[in-house]
Amino acid sequence: MAKRLDGKVAFITGASSGIGAAMARDFARRGADVVLTARRWERLEALALEIRAQGRRAVVVQCDVTVDGDLEAAAAEAVDKLGRIDWVVANAGFGVAGWFHRRDLADYRRQFETNVFGVLRAAFATFDALQASHGCFAVMGSVMGHVATPGSSPYAMSKHAVRALATALRHEWRPRGVSVTLLSPGFIDSEIRQVDNEGRRNPEARDTIPRWIRMRTDTAARKMVSAVVRRKREAVVTFHGKVAVFLSRYAPGLFDSLVRVFGVRSSRTKNST
Ligand SMILES: NC(=O)c1ccc[n+]([C@@H]2O[C@H](COP(=O)([O-])OP(=O)(O)OC[C@H]3O[C@@H](n4cnc5c(N)ncnc54)[C@H](OP(=O)(O)O)[C@@H]3O)[C@@H](O)[C@H]2O)c1
Repeated sequence: MAKRLDGKVAFITGASSGIGAAMARDFARRGADVVLTARRWERLEALALEIRAQGRRAVVVQCDVTVDGDLEAAAAEAVDKLGRIDWVVANAGFGVAGWFHRRDLADYRRQFETNVFGVLRAAFATFDALQASHGCFAVMGSVMGHVATPGSSPYAMSKHAVRALATALRHEWRPRGVSVTLLSPGFIDSEIRQVDNEGRRNPEARDTIPRWIRMRTDTAARKMVSAVVRRKREAVVTFHGKVAVFLSRYAPGLFDSLVRVFGVRSSRTKNST
């Protein structure tokens, strides 16, 4: 039986689809109120209606994590309307893929602006509220924060960077009563593979990752919310993700050979070279 979270508040970036939306649903199912942020306002409103119908409070704030000030305004509105923030999930992100020699600096900057500076903006914007509640800051990393494969350098770099941030903040914020959880999922059902290197969505795009290996979004969200609520240091989610992280750490030569032998490459490399 999951611990009840009544009277507490979860603040989620990138709550309009995929993992962020599913985590918001799971926090609400356990009794928490939620703050939903992203750029697609209609999606957030639809999710908020669904959550309010279950008797929980849901505040929608349209916000772009690449814009200075948006997250500060969102955090202020959250505290104003709901009184507190207990959990932050810095989840908003997308993937820039492709071989290094076909990419340019702008690709790496665009990737970092959302996946790294977006997480930093969330941390700066919510730290005071988290210190007041002795809450938890969750960083959405990835298995690609532990490994890197051909064609993945922009995305893998961004996820390695936020993994380092999570580790440093965990040490720094512990004495202030704020815990930090790193979330490192493998392949999860979501809309991420419909988004191109410029951040544009194509709803017609087929997911290039085979269905059998992708974890259901609600299953992944349940595991990640549990990890955050229990103040775990890190949750590596999916069996294939755990195997990849284990091999890359304890058998790096074998892991490299597997990448070479099986031609493992970023899922969108072919589309984006
Ligand atoms: N799915 C996977 O296999 C997988 C695996 C490992 C890690 N992850 C990570 O999980 C996180 C969520 O991705 P997802 O898989 O759930 O993909 P998704 O369905 O595409 O969701 C991405 C979310 O991020 C938001 N977002 C993107 N750019 C934003 C910006 N500039 N400002 C505000 N919000 C922004 C999107 O909202 P709007 O477009 O409405 O703004 C959307 O809500 C990402 O950090 C991703 O790297 C995913």
